[in-house]
Amino acid sequence: MHYVATKICRASEIGLNGNLFGGTMLSWLDESGAAFAGYLCRTPNMVTLKMDEVLFRRPVKISHHVRIYARVDKVGKTSLAINVEARRFDFDKELEELVCSTRMVYVKIDAQGQAIPIEDRLRATMDQSMNDLTQRT
Ligand SMILES: CC(C)(COP(=O)(O)OP(=O)(O)OC[C@H]1O[C@@H](n2cnc3c(N)ncnc32)[C@H](O)[C@@H]1OP(=O)(O)O)[C@@H](O)C(=O)NCCC(=O)NCCS
Repeated sequence: MHYVATKICRASEIGLNGNLFGGTMLSWLDESGAAFAGYLCRTPNMVTLKMDEVLFRRPVKISHHVRIYARVDKVGKTSLAINVEARRFDFDKELEELVCSTRMVYVKIDAQGQAIPIEDRLRATMDQSMNDLTQRT
């Protein structure tokens, strides 16, 4: 998968049970997926159409570093499906642990907000991304 961003969990982002608020995690995943999709499509004009099942597998606590990775799952005419993972970094063990994952669909739009085709010349890079996996725990 491709590294996209690192987020650091702040005290203001903690919910009632002492864990990162789920909505904040969703926002991180959406923003990172959009950044990745926009980069691949060479446009800032990508909108989120869909978020699939989201699994919160491990808690994130204050000061945890969360690394977000993305990978192309499917390239359509106007849309791009992206698998997104958030991984907690354990500084002592120097390893990443999966905390949350989902699949998002983004659509390329024009100035009027209508779906428009992704350029053919960019598809090779996206195909390459589909086969690119990295290790995690
Ligand atoms: C995204 C948006 C422009 C799509 O408009 P639309 O009229 O549905 O466009 P289309 O019917 O041409 O579909 C666009 C793409 O979405 C795909 N799509 C539509 N419904 C889908 C679904 N349920 N699941 C997966 N893909 C879907 C279509 O297959 C098409 O992809 P393709 O061209 O690669 O085959 C429109 O729905 C929109 O503006 N949504 C709001 C986006 C937004 O504000 N997001 C922020 C989060 S609130």
